[in-house]
Amino acid sequence: MERNGQQTEQGRKGKFIALEGIDGSGKSTQLRLLADRLEKENVDYHMTMEPTEAPIGAMLRQILRGKMKADNRVIAALFAADRLDHLLNEENGIAAKVENGTTVITDRYYFSSYAYHSVDMPMEWVIQVNEQSARILRPTVTVFIDVDPDTAMERILRNREQQELYEKRSRLEAVRKKYLEAFDRLKEVERVVLLRAVDQEWMDHIDAMEQLQEGIRLRAYAQHDPVVEYRLEGFDMFDSMIAAIRETTAKLILTVRLRQKEAPKREQVAKETSAGTAGDKTVKKQPVKKAAKIGRNDPCPCGSGLKWKKCTCAEYHKDS
Ligand code: TYD
Repeated sequence: MERNGQQTEQGRKGKFIALEGIDGSGKSTQLRLLADRLEKENVDYHMTMEPTEAPIGAMLRQILRGKMKADNRVIAALFAADRLDHLLNEENGIAAKVENGTTVITDRYYFSSYAYHSVDMPMEWVIQVNEQSARILRPTVTVFIDVDPDTAMERILRNREQQELYEKRSRLEAVRKKYLEAFDRLKEVERVVLLRAVDQEWMDHIDAMEQLQEGIRLRAYAQHDPVVEYRLEGFDMFDSMIAAIRETTAKLILTVRLRQKEAPKREQVAKETSAGTAGDKTVKKQPVKKAAKIGRNDPCPCGSGLKWKKCTCAEYHKDS
């Protein structure tokens, strides 16, 4: 009962939403937008992040910036300790907040540990180190913003003055794989939403929001309240982004449906061929059907959510 989180969740008043993603996926912006939404709807919420701003979190940031050195196991254990403090801290622990009815939204939680640290050590070990946190507070939902590592890396290079420990392309790729592995491994006990078709729209949106932030300051000169303007325009932009994502998702679903339809057809052709060869041993030539042309920017039909040009699946890209 406790393992699938039902027991705690039923007695819980606030929701606990964790945002996850590789570095450069834009989850901090998503979190801010979510916070704006909750505020607009008068939800009692608390926005937070890991690593925290408390002493263990501060130590972790020193390590991430290369100012302190520590063994990988020590880093993983420090993240687990920071998380427990995040949950149980007497002053502002989030476990009590959720218990008391506050909705808590966090930028990273234990799936970050499962993904980042299992690149260097067994995932089972990392899960065990975080077992207490999972017992104390399991997210109502974990939202994974799945952005392809190339796009994420571009954003990191564009936006950061200094790169942190894990902000390298090969590392991002490995971490993304580990996230997916962790979701699969824990699918019986965790509720995870994968935001996949967002790629380009999401990135365009984030960049547009940043430009808006810049431009909106000027409106103060025209006697408009910049905060109000930012919120209003931000919502509009968010809505158009959602519309764009919906369209992409619809396209994706369509592709997946088409694929499902194709599969039994292929089976039938195979059967007919073998029946034809049974009697006279000559193989009847089947008409060769040309596959529908896929554009470079269309989603790959393998269902990965990546554009054709970015996908490296074995199914459709074995020759590239
Ligand atoms: P990040 O969310 O990128 O913070 P910021 O935007 O302030 O740089 O998190 C910092 C790094 O910490 C990121 O590379 C992921 C890493 N991390 C772990 O390795 N393990 C964890 O458990 C957590 C929460 C984060």
